[in-house]
Amino acid sequence: MKYLTILGATGSIGESAADILLRHVDKFSAYALVGHRNHQRMLELAHSLRPRWVVMTDAGAAGQLKGKLPENVQLETGMDAAIAMATDSHVDMVLAAMVGAVGLPAALAAVKAGKRVGLANKECLVTAGRIFMQTARESGAEVVPVDSEHAAVHQCLAGHDHDSVSRVILTASGGPFRNRDPATMHTVTPEEAVAHPNWDMGAKISVDSATMMNKALELIEARWLFDMQPEKLSAIIHPQSIVHGMVEYTDGSVVAQLAEPDMRGPIAYAMQAKPRLTSGISMLDLAKHGRLDFQAVDEGRFPAMRLIKNVLAGHDSLAIALNAANEVANQAFRERRISFTDIVCVVEQALEASEDVSVDGLDDVWSRDREIRRLTESFITNL
Ligand SMILES: NC(=O)c1ccc[n+]([C@@H]2O[C@H](COP(=O)([O-])OP(=O)(O)OC[C@H]3O[C@@H](n4cnc5c(N)ncnc54)[C@H](OP(=O)(O)O)[C@@H]3O)[C@@H](O)[C@H]2O)c1
Repeated sequence: MKYLTILGATGSIGESAADILLRHVDKFSAYALVGHRNHQRMLELAHSLRPRWVVMTDAGAAGQLKGKLPENVQLETGMDAAIAMATDSHVDMVLAAMVGAVGLPAALAAVKAGKRVGLANKECLVTAGRIFMQTARESGAEVVPVDSEHAAVHQCLAGHDHDSVSRVILTASGGPFRNRDPATMHTVTPEEAVAHPNWDMGAKISVDSATMMNKALELIEARWLFDMQPEKLSAIIHPQSIVHGMVEYTDGSVVAQLAEPDMRGPIAYAMQAKPRLTSGISMLDLAKHGRLDFQAVDEGRFPAMRLIKNVLAGHDSLAIALNAANEVANQAFRERRISFTDIVCVVEQALEASEDVSVDGLDDVWSRDREIRRLTESFITNL
């Protein structure tokens, strides 16, 4: 039996992971489920998955669960408790699926403890990719991607020569505004932005997909996950989200991974690749799909993809700035404090205000992250 801690169990990835766990109760068991505020969802999960521990990082939400959890399910609160569950000696694997850089301490602690880590929480690698992967090399932890594009690339790299890779290609659906008149983008509402055509995801990543900031973050994620030089990283629009990622080799051969768009596929792959687990996703019927389309990314329509070039070419401080500013601006848009087009404008301002320097350890990461969040709030106030 393999024991899992799920960080972000109450979110969209957590929901897909719970589905996989319930399909494989003979092989996997939830040791700890970690959520933040959604105590109603946690109560449902505690009944269906029967973990040994439930942690709500928000004390008020934990209070709501007191006396309501099933027998033998114990309750804790706070980020320190989440970290303890990510490093507990009973735990074989940690699924890192909190949203935002707030998930970094627990995911990094799991890596330091040498756990197998299924990584959905891409902001960890954007903010501290160099430190995260170096820590994994030192501890022997296996970091397996859960992001569908990276899970695809992981599969396309398996069994091939790393030095023969000429390009890693991440696909992007183009989100809900791929064909929208650019002149009307400033009127986009949060409801329109979270309505992704192919994927059912949490609010933050859905808005990131609409701005294509998600693909920008994913390029940085790929850089660290696969130890890939920035000039080998690229993205292409593929509206059907059937091809999730590709790797081109020096002989001109391209290896691609295809599947129906359903996060249970990458989660099952991260949990166990050999032998593969059944995941519940529909089998791919290419004859039914009939065609797969691809087009170059239009940087005029998606200016986040213009910004990412400088970030990838620069030092780590720029990636921290990109992520922190985007988290603040994304939330401000969802709270209707700024327009959709302001998101990338504000991130660009934050990048211009950021130093382009190498980053010296985690304390430096957090002080830069805090400073950029403060600056971004001031840019938003002065819009
Ligand atoms: N959804 C997808 O299909 C998908 C695909 C690829 C990658 N990802 C990545 O996976 C991560 C999770 O995405 P998601 O779509 O599952 O997000 P989500 O549905 O919004 O869930 C986020 C999770 O993080 C928790 N959380 C939020 N704020 C927190 C805080 N301050 N401290 C501790 N926990 C906190 C939430 O807890 P409560 O809900 O209890 O407050 C929830 O469990 C993101 O990094 C995203 O980019 C997601």
